[in-house]
Amino acid sequence: MRRLRSSEPLRTLVRETRLYPSQFILPLFVCPGEAVRRPISSMPGNFQLSVDELVKDSEEALSLGIGGVILFGIPASKDEFASGAYADDGITQRAVRALKSAVPKLLVITDVCNCEYTSHGHCGKVVGNEVDNDASLDWLAAAAVSHARAGVDIVAPSDMMDGRVAAIRKALDQAGFSNLPVLAYAAKFASVFYGPFREAAESAPQFGDRRSYQMDPANGREAMREIELDLEEGADMIMVKPAMPYLDLIRQARDRFSAPLGAYQVSGEFSMIIAAVLNGWLDRDRAILESLTSIRRAGADFILTYFAKEASRLLA
Ligand code: PBG
Repeated sequence: MRRLRSSEPLRTLVRETRLYPSQFILPLFVCPGEAVRRPISSMPGNFQLSVDELVKDSEEALSLGIGGVILFGIPASKDEFASGAYADDGITQRAVRALKSAVPKLLVITDVCNCEYTSHGHCGKVVGNEVDNDASLDWLAAAAVSHARAGVDIVAPSDMMDGRVAAIRKALDQAGFSNLPVLAYAAKFASVFYGPFREAAESAPQFGDRRSYQMDPANGREAMREIELDLEEGADMIMVKPAMPYLDLIRQARDRFSAPLGAYQVSGEFSMIIAAVLNGWLDRDRAILESLTSIRRAGADFILTYFAKEASRLLA
């Protein structure tokens, strides 16, 4: 076996899995204000960006050949009804309009969820002490339609309510957006690895946790059912999230479903690598590329990753 490992040209020739910048989606956090570039302490190198700064980072993403960006909005104020999530002049809607006019060639995805917009930090409408599934669907559908009106290229629901893909698809079709694709966070687990994101997006639940709607990390068969249902409801693309702790499920999904498959290398995966790098325990460039390669090798077509820019530079 070692014959084909003896030089870099040979290794390159027989390499089975390759990385391209076009396979990466860069998550970006957008907040109100101007000239704001607020560092996220648990995610070194990531920032809450005002729309003008977001445009700059997005121009850079495009110039690096990155596949696209996914936007997370941090509204000026939150309420019980997540009204900022579906307001036509909400932070995400304004960001999409700005990007589509300043960087029209860049693919823009929006995360569709309520947790950044609710005062309690849950992903849906809270009734009593519970997140009410069906009452949350109207908000999600309204948010998706408002993003569509702003000109987004793909909407990506991440809330894990049952029936959200069907509700969003129907609302988009009725509003005249039958061509807009839905990327479903189909198998999304109640993961500890979202911790740093919740600082970034200011979306930590104020009581309880998300285990009544996000999946139990122990369940693989259930993940396949979630994906199957989202496809039946009209999802155009599917996603497994997080990525590295769930490579087995990325592989199972790849083998079972033909739809384009994404994986989200989430905030905690990013921060673990960076923490080890900052301690001098891991080589930065190799850790980034090996982690991304493993996710692609498991079967993901594209990867949402906070390393999108850095990895693209490494591959250049
Ligand atoms: C919103 C959402 C979350 C993430 C993406 N969309 C947080 C959560 O579900 O608590 C996590 C992304 C990351 O950790 O990088 N629901």
